[in-house]
Amino acid sequence: MNKILVSLLLTLSITGLAQAAGDAAAGQGKVVVCGACHGADGNSAAPNFPKLAGQGERYLLKQLNDIKAGNRQVVEMTGLLNNLSDQDLADIAAYYSSQSMSVGAADPKLVARGGELFRGGKLNEGMPACTGCHSPNGAGLDAAGFPQIGGQHAAYVAKQLTDFREGNRTNDGDGMIMRSIAAKLSNKDIEAVSSFIQGLH
Ligand code: HEC
Ligand code: HEC
Repeated sequence: MNKILVSLLLTLSITGLAQAAGDAAAGQGKVVVCGACHGADGNSAAPNFPKLAGQGERYLLKQLNDIKAGNRQVVEMTGLLNNLSDQDLADIAAYYSSQSMSVGAADPKLVARGGELFRGGKLNEGMPACTGCHSPNGAGLDAAGFPQIGGQHAAYVAKQLTDFREGNRTNDGDGMIMRSIAAKLSNKDIEAVSSFIQGLH
C-alpha cells in the first residue's frame, strides 16, 4: 500500500472514531421519549422492556443501529429512531451506559438449575457456559460486544433466548453465536437460566 493511501485510511478511521464518541450529558436530553418504556435512567419497570442502564456502550450503539436499520425488529420502537443522527445514537448509548443497572431477584425454585446452566453450560451437547462471554457476574465484556445480562428482567431475557432459538432475532452476527446456543435450550432451561440472570450481579 502506498503512503498516501495509508495516511488517508488513518485519517478516515480517526475521524470515524471522533464521530462515534458519545456525550452522555447530551444523550440525557435525547431520551425523554424512551423513558416511557425504558425508565428515566434506563431501569425499566415493566419486565418486557429491557433495562438499558449500565449496559455496555458499544453493545447499545450496535442495537440502536440494528433496530434503526431493521436488522432487529422492535415493533414498539417503530419510527422512533428514524430522525436520530449517528451522533444522537452515540450520545444516547453513552448516557445509558453511564447509569447503573438495578438488580432483581431469582425465583428460589429455579436458581439451582439456572446457575448450573449459566456456569456449566451443557458440555455434553457442545453448549458453552454463559460465563465465558457474559462473565461470572453477568457484566459482559463490552469491548468484545458481549452485553451485560446480570440483573436484566427475566421475562425480557427469556424472550430474547426464545427469539434467538426460533430465528426471530438474527443480529448476533455471521457466527450465529446466540442462535446456536439458544438452539440447545429447552423452554424449561430458558425459564431457569433467565430467572437466575435476573438476580445475578
Ligand atoms: C413503546 C415502548 C418503547 C419505547 C418508547 C422505546 N423502546 Fe426501546 N425497546 C422496547 C422493547 C419492547 C424492546 C425489546 C424488544 C424485544 O423484545 O426484542 C426495546 C429494546 C431496546 C434496545 C435493545 C436493548 C438490548 O438489551 O438489546 C435499545 C438499545 C432500546 N430499546 C433503546 C431505545 C431508545 C434509545 C428509545 C428512545 C429513542 C426507545 N428504546 C424507546 C420498547 C420501547
Ligand atoms: C461465545 C460468546 C457467548 C456465549 C458463550 C453466550 N453469549 Fe449471550 N451473547 C453473546 C453476544 C455476542 C451477544 C450480543 C449479540 C448482538 O450483538 O445482538 C449476546 C446476547 C445475549 C442476550 C441478549 C441481551 C440483550 O440485552 O438483548 C442474552 C439474553 C444472552 N446473550 C444470554 C446468554 C445465555 C443465557 C448464555 C448461556 C446459556 C449465553 N448468552 C452465552 C455472546 C455469548
